[in-house]
Amino acid sequence: MVDLLPPQLPTRATITGLGHFVPDTVLTNQDLEAIVDTSDAWIVERTGIRERHVAGPGEAAGTLAVEAATRAIKDAGLTPSDIDALVVATCSSDQPIPHTGAFVSDALGLYCGSFDINAACTGFVVGLINAAGMMAIGGMRHTLVIGSEALTRFTDPTDRGTCVIFGDGAAAAVLSSVPATEDGPGLIAFDLGCDGAAAKYLEVPAGGSRLPASAATVAAGDHYLKMAGQEVFKRAVRAIDQSVRITLERAAMTVDDIDWFVPHQANIRIIETAANRLGIPMERTLVNIESYGNTSGASIPLVLSEAAAAGRIQAGDRVLMSGFGAGMTWGSAIVRWGI
Ligand code: ACO
Repeated sequence: MVDLLPPQLPTRATITGLGHFVPDTVLTNQDLEAIVDTSDAWIVERTGIRERHVAGPGEAAGTLAVEAATRAIKDAGLTPSDIDALVVATCSSDQPIPHTGAFVSDALGLYCGSFDINAACTGFVVGLINAAGMMAIGGMRHTLVIGSEALTRFTDPTDRGTCVIFGDGAAAAVLSSVPATEDGPGLIAFDLGCDGAAAKYLEVPAGGSRLPASAATVAAGDHYLKMAGQEVFKRAVRAIDQSVRITLERAAMTVDDIDWFVPHQANIRIIETAANRLGIPMERTLVNIESYGNTSGASIPLVLSEAAAAGRIQAGDRVLMSGFGAGMTWGSAIVRWGI
């Protein structure tokens, strides 16, 4: 039974621990040159990616999540018994049923409530906002939000339009409740959106209740991710721009108030175009796409976790996250760093 805080206290959720984990196996652009008709030069110029990590036998979104979560809980100075709720953001869940959080709970020894969020690359931001909401209403002390993906399991190895982009990995954040003060730490503003009419541009058509898996769907490759890259690209730039502006307005801030811009790591050209449109210099933009590719729901916490471990983010910094992905979903959040 979770021991909850009195619900009447105004609180905010702040990040008190981070951790990440990627599989050992590395797939370089040179490796891909031997598999599909592509080149290192094309991939680097068009995406900014040089290599990505790929889940090996026995690994799945859930196992990567457990490793990342273990590190985040330790980083927060807590133990699993301190966690009051678990949120796993993933669009590459271990199985259709049960949710991936069940496997993560089992491995970590958790008995608290858990659920998965499927908002693709926006998943971590959605998870953060959900967790903060639960904490504010329910008096929870610590929640665990994990972004974890093994999307290479859904990528057609012969489709050069997608197989060069995606990588696997996980990153986790512990959110803790702190008293809400005017300039204190925590999540201070967010924006979420979804344009379902654009769902067709990024989808795995088969394997769900609309088109159940069958020999025919497998033969047609409909269990693989299909992406209209340029359509996604255009919408991504627009969505980030609009969502960031809305979030800044809600926080009564301008881009000059932002210390770190943390965009979803989908394509360096999307990141640069969005940052440029918003007037955020690349020196204040966190980027690690070169080494991991697009890890979907894991990408924002992964780049955040690396930057925090390197001491780049300091207490008091205002961190602006912005993601977009299949759905098409998008979401942004501003967090004031600190405990
Ligand atoms: N190697 C070499 N050539 C390639 C490759 C490749 N890997 N892929 C495509 N090409 C070719 C195409 O066939 C095309 O050739 P053509 O002109 O002879 O027809 C040419 O390169 C240009 O193709 P485009 O699709 O226009 O390439 P683009 O510059 O748009 O880059 C990319 C493609 C990288 C996919 C880009 O569109 C992109 O990043 N889109 C956004 C992806 C994204 O952000 N996804 C969202 C999150 S994922 C999620 O939610 C799960």
